[in-house]
Amino acid sequence: MKNLFIKNFGCQMNEYDAGRIADLLAKTHGLTQVPAPELADVIVFNTCHIREKAEEKLFSELGRIRKLVRRSPDRAPVVLAVGGCVGQAEGAEIFRRAPYVDLVFGPQNYHELPGMLDRLTAGATRLCHTDTTATDKFDHLPETGQSGPIASVTLQEGCNRYCSYCVVPHTRGPEWSRPVAAVLDEVAICLRNGALELVLLGQNVTTYRAIDSDGVTHDLALLIERIALMDGVKRIRFVTSHPADMSDDLVELFGRLPELCPYMHLPIQSGSDAVLRAMERGHSVEEYRSWAEKLRRAHPDMALASDFIVGFPGETDRDFQETLDLVEEIRFDHAYSFLFSPRPGTKAASMTDQVPVALGQQRLARLQETLNRIQHHNNLRQVGKKEEVLVEKRSRLGENQFSGRTRGNRWVNFPGIPEWIGRLVMVEITEGLANSLRGRVHP
Ligand code: SAH
Ligand code: SF4
Ligand code: F3S
Repeated sequence: MKNLFIKNFGCQMNEYDAGRIADLLAKTHGLTQVPAPELADVIVFNTCHIREKAEEKLFSELGRIRKLVRRSPDRAPVVLAVGGCVGQAEGAEIFRRAPYVDLVFGPQNYHELPGMLDRLTAGATRLCHTDTTATDKFDHLPETGQSGPIASVTLQEGCNRYCSYCVVPHTRGPEWSRPVAAVLDEVAICLRNGALELVLLGQNVTTYRAIDSDGVTHDLALLIERIALMDGVKRIRFVTSHPADMSDDLVELFGRLPELCPYMHLPIQSGSDAVLRAMERGHSVEEYRSWAEKLRRAHPDMALASDFIVGFPGETDRDFQETLDLVEEIRFDHAYSFLFSPRPGTKAASMTDQVPVALGQQRLARLQETLNRIQHHNNLRQVGKKEEVLVEKRSRLGENQFSGRTRGNRWVNFPGIPEWIGRLVMVEITEGLANSLRGRVHP
């Protein structure tokens, strides 16, 4: 066993986990990551269960990859492992649908992979580890191998909210927070490895609560303050937050900490109180409105992003109109919107008043039109501003074009030189497009 190929699906937490899996298997089995499955001895699919589409994609990809990696008889067969949220939700059922899979594991069990690989080599078959109550995986992982200007650090895992449509509490398990010292240590490593921007991750990061080595309880706001004090931190972001778990301390930080980027991803899902109640979100439209106002008061350039679900069971034309009205009122800077997908094991899947798919799709198209128009309008308003941009990569737009994000998390493309990658530059915004900005670097 030499080479590892990881295919990642899903959210930023899965992305982070995929990195940790690679770090772990490099240490225990000397595996090196390769860019194509054909080159691999071990293939890991780190999967997402959030909507039906994500899951379907997994099984079609599994079939495809299996054909790709037929081996010559004198070499050991490739190990195929399915981890992440589908691994958790479906467990050993995966072996039935895809009998060529060797290992299945959940998001809280990936530290057990090395042992599972060894048992497989010793002759075991079809191993499945899915215990969502395990909270010790970080104790078994080597140091993060992340290097580069943007680093992610998981603060919090799992969710206790049980929104009626959502699989996350079932796949990631109950909420828990990493100890303050563990988070600060990992941030320090990322900073030593060149990080300028830290992205703090959690399914519901606003519930963060843990004690430090002096016994002081830290919530998210206090933890961010501690991180902002560390040498070399230029930017801090965090995702995802829940409106019912917001705090005034957190809002106030945006006005006070220059390191904290004025960008907040605060999903509302719907603009109708009746739908929010059926979703069991635990807050009203008015409460959300009040957080949005406070955030925008806290920082003049606050960029506000949200998620929406349309076609939730029982959603009437009037409910949907309320969502459109709210979008026009709040004028989100960015948003993700999805058609409701009934998920196994969730309450909403068995609600009787399901919205016909065609109607849901019509509504989704209308919502996206509205969101895009407003986003474009907000982008046009950036023209003329001078923005700090962290240069991330070459842009697909052309030879000497580069891309990076502003503090408000807007993508900007601009002419530049490769030496700028990984650096902060000042960019004058010259154009506002639907999904991005154009600019030129200001000397
Ligand atoms: N923990 C985060 C994100 C959860 S998943 C939060 O609570 O905001 C990301 C987004 O996927 C959700 O905000 C929601 O908009 C969407 N989503 C979750 N379950 C879904 C479902 N069953 N159908 C459609 N969209 C869904
Ligand atoms: Fe899912 Fe709701 Fe938890 Fe977000 S808060 S992860 S939508 S259950
Ligand atoms: Fe998907 Fe699991 Fe993330 S279901 S969105 S990978 S928490």
